[in-house]
Amino acid sequence: MVTKSKFQAIRGTRDLLPPETALWNHVEQTAHTVFGTFGFGEIRPPVFEATELFARAVGGETDIVSKEMYSFEDFESNELAALRTLLVAEQSSISDPNFFFAYELKVTEFRERLGNGIERRAVPRTQENERALADLGSLLDSIAFDRQEYETTRDAAIFERFNLYVGTVRNYLLAVHLGDILSLRPEATASVCRAYIEHNMQQLPQPVKLYYLGPMFRRERPQKGRHRQFYQIGAEVLGGTDAPAIDAEVIEMVMMFFDRVGLTGVALDINSIGHNAPDCRPAYVEKLRAALEKVKDQLGADSQRRIETNPLRVLDSKLEHEQPIIATLPHIADHLCADCAAHYAAVKRQLGLRGVFFKENWRLVRGLDYYMRTTFEITAKGLGSQNAVCGGGRYDGLMELLGGPPAKGIGFAIGEDRLILSLQESGEGAVAQGRDVYIAWMGEHAYAAAVRAAKDLRNEGFSVELPATELKFGKALERADKLGSRYALILGDNEVSEGSWTLKALADGTQQKFTEPDLLEYLRKQRALSS
Ligand code: HAM
Repeated sequence: MVTKSKFQAIRGTRDLLPPETALWNHVEQTAHTVFGTFGFGEIRPPVFEATELFARAVGGETDIVSKEMYSFEDFESNELAALRTLLVAEQSSISDPNFFFAYELKVTEFRERLGNGIERRAVPRTQENERALADLGSLLDSIAFDRQEYETTRDAAIFERFNLYVGTVRNYLLAVHLGDILSLRPEATASVCRAYIEHNMQQLPQPVKLYYLGPMFRRERPQKGRHRQFYQIGAEVLGGTDAPAIDAEVIEMVMMFFDRVGLTGVALDINSIGHNAPDCRPAYVEKLRAALEKVKDQLGADSQRRIETNPLRVLDSKLEHEQPIIATLPHIADHLCADCAAHYAAVKRQLGLRGVFFKENWRLVRGLDYYMRTTFEITAKGLGSQNAVCGGGRYDGLMELLGGPPAKGIGFAIGEDRLILSLQESGEGAVAQGRDVYIAWMGEHAYAAAVRAAKDLRNEGFSVELPATELKFGKALERADKLGSRYALILGDNEVSEGSWTLKALADGTQQKFTEPDLLEYLRKQRALSS
């Protein structure tokens, strides 16, 4: 029996639906407007990039890169991929020599196709692929030699070796990259830097100010405010100087945006994590590591591991029992080099100048490797444990790390899903829905007039609902009400032949009669009054 399968959105992803999407649009429109007033231009990078780009920028050891990326091999060569799958799936318990000889032929075919693919550039010419090609070549030579021996001697010891060959072939095949390794973007700073380099933006007047909106992908455990496909609104300032005024202006911009969309309970935390020179962050990290070693047995497994891998991340811990221990650890602000300390002090002064309130949070280290100096995070109300609605910071040095020219960088990304959630929780989420005018028509002549009226009204920017089939007036008015319409325009054949149209305000039931041009004029005036 054929069972009906029921498709559902993949865990961690969801449909954004009306009326909520109106709020999303409103938020995005506000970002376009506010960021535009600061001289930012929009960039739309692709949603997938080379995995290596994120590994290098965000850091191979970070949770984002090591656990959360959606990665795939992008191959042109489907036949080669199918052959590889078949060969990899082969069991090594061979009882029939003819079976093995058929297998050998397939491996030979794979090797030939791989070589051709590399020549034709359908398969990337990587070191791994060149090595696999050579290794498979020598292995096939050994196999051919053994096969000939076996055909004359039927020696069981040689037959045994065939099984071993299958395992070796499998290992070689698994090292082959049939295509580029790509990932859905988990964030966009790396992409924006890649684009800056690719398009030689260092030749433009500096700094280059870019912003972006769009989906990001991280394979995290879904919960309130945490999705696997989520949306960010971000901005980056690239090139130019690292003047503290830039840090402050970027933060001022995001705070102004939050203010404009009506976000409540907004709190800004800032910190400086210094830079990667012996007398700055690395010296602090060593002090931190030493302090952590002393309290190691009181820490949980994650923090214990991080003492080795990345002690700064211990400061991020949310574990209740670790909090009093963390409170006793050394603060980075006391160990910054003179330049970083001066930069941090200037950023704080510049924020003050702009009337931006902030709280210093020495534990704010952020989970991406590219940061240096200024880091910041913004929280909002109504979000539960995932309350960071924006994160950002400075990342001088990232551009060089990606093979680009020396260029400074600072930016942020807002979690749009969380922003929307917070707006909804605080009652700021209502965006006017419904229609301006619902046209209740009856009769053929009335319908022709209704179609014309709908077109004229829509051209004037009014939202209009024109029912596709005739409805009794009572029913039509009921529908108009359900759709949250402001007015119902009542058009019967009589109204049309008399040229006098009835407009009913649904809030109070009052009715007025208009000629067609007067009606438009009246609606325009009402709109001006209510805006
Ligand atoms: P991030 O802190 O990883 O930074 O992400 C920024 C914001 O995206 C978070 O504060 C949060 O609101 C939202 N977010 C992150 N993961 C999720 C998720 N799984 N579900 C829902 N929302 C999420 C960055 O991405 C950096 N690229 C920011 C940046 C730009 N730094 C400099 N320039």
